[in-house]
Amino acid sequence: MQIDFEKASFKDFENIPGLDPYKWASLWTAYVNDRTSLGQFNYRQENLSGCGPEMQLDIKDNPIRNFVSLVSNDYLGFTQHPKVKAAAIEGIEQFGTGAGASPAIGGHYSYHQQLEDKIARFFKRDSAIVFTTGYNANSSSLQALLKKEDLAILDMAVHASVYEGCQLTNVKTFPHNNVDALENVLKNTDGKYRTRMVVIDGVYSQDGDLAPLNDIIKLTKYYGAYLLVDDAHGTGVIGETGRGVIELYDLYKEVDIITGTFSKTFAHVGGYLVASPELVSFLKFQSRQHVFSATLSPAAACISKAIDLVDEEPIWKELLWKNITYFKNGLLSLGLDVGATESAILPVKIGDINLNAKICNMLLQAGIYTNQINYPAVSRKDARIRMSLMATHTQQQLDKVLNAWDWVIKKEGLTINN
Ligand SMILES: Cc1ncc(COP(=O)(O)O)c(C=O)c1O
Repeated sequence: MQIDFEKASFKDFENIPGLDPYKWASLWTAYVNDRTSLGQFNYRQENLSGCGPEMQLDIKDNPIRNFVSLVSNDYLGFTQHPKVKAAAIEGIEQFGTGAGASPAIGGHYSYHQQLEDKIARFFKRDSAIVFTTGYNANSSSLQALLKKEDLAILDMAVHASVYEGCQLTNVKTFPHNNVDALENVLKNTDGKYRTRMVVIDGVYSQDGDLAPLNDIIKLTKYYGAYLLVDDAHGTGVIGETGRGVIELYDLYKEVDIITGTFSKTFAHVGGYLVASPELVSFLKFQSRQHVFSATLSPAAACISKAIDLVDEEPIWKELLWKNITYFKNGLLSLGLDVGATESAILPVKIGDINLNAKICNMLLQAGIYTNQINYPAVSRKDARIRMSLMATHTQQQLDKVLNAWDWVIKKEGLTINN
């Protein structure tokens, strides 16, 4: 079995016909070694200093040093906020280091209950369920809710966790943010399934653009479908008070299910689903990854503090937006293509997978830590460098990144704004 490493993506190694997993692994290892030798495998860098606008990285064959980092989704910088850290320590002091059990049989503590109440109120709703990851919030809920009689209708760009959650049901996708295409699917599937659930993101993780939620909600209501909105990247960032895209359109009551994560704005780890009390109660006992897995550790007590801080210290969102405006304008004035982003995610579209990897490495050599995003996270022709901004980036750090891009453009002779 031959795989052309030059053209390959991670997807090509998922399931190789005629080979067993050990053979896949050995081919994969050859691929990683080949790409590493070309400086193109910039993943799993070892961070020595913690999440922040600068990170100290231990990169093979390089001296340990600080990099300006654009890889964290800790948008408001709360992972390093003294009050959030203190709350985590307090949680551990009070409850110890682990929960010791799954929720139904001994692992549901007062800090979980407080978190469920708090995140429900944050979205002006009555009920929520907490998961150990944002990934689980989507995948295990969808698995519990949609079966072979049902249909999930997905924006093509939703997160991998949604696709995983839909493995037990029927799936139709529509092109990203294409409301007409969604309407066609809704029209053509009317009366053919028991339940139809449209699943979208609020802010899309690779493009940073927003869902046209006001149009989509009208369609789902009209055609009698349910709507799940995953606003992992919008929460804390979008809307007057950081409630995300739902706040932007004032659709708190209309959206059936809201999911999200505690690993971005809320500075820890875990996920949530906000919905009607009955649906939440059902999931507490029917969502398998919830029922059969131990709950969040007591350090998760810090999440409640991070949720409070969104309202108590709005300065962080203001600083984030100051940075977004400054940096986006800087990239645009260099002629770079940042697509339709309206959030803290700034993608620079490169196109070719190998050039993308090369540029990621050049930026790294210039002291800038970014993510290279390739197929299957985006389509094959849409490779890009993705950068996430934080409230705590300084203008000096952002200028350093813009200067590095200027250097890359000149060095690589990039055709800009094409
Ligand atoms: C849109 C979206 N949903 C869900 C998740 C999963 O969240 P977590 O990393 O907390 O499991 C992510 C993670 O990046 C995401 O981008």
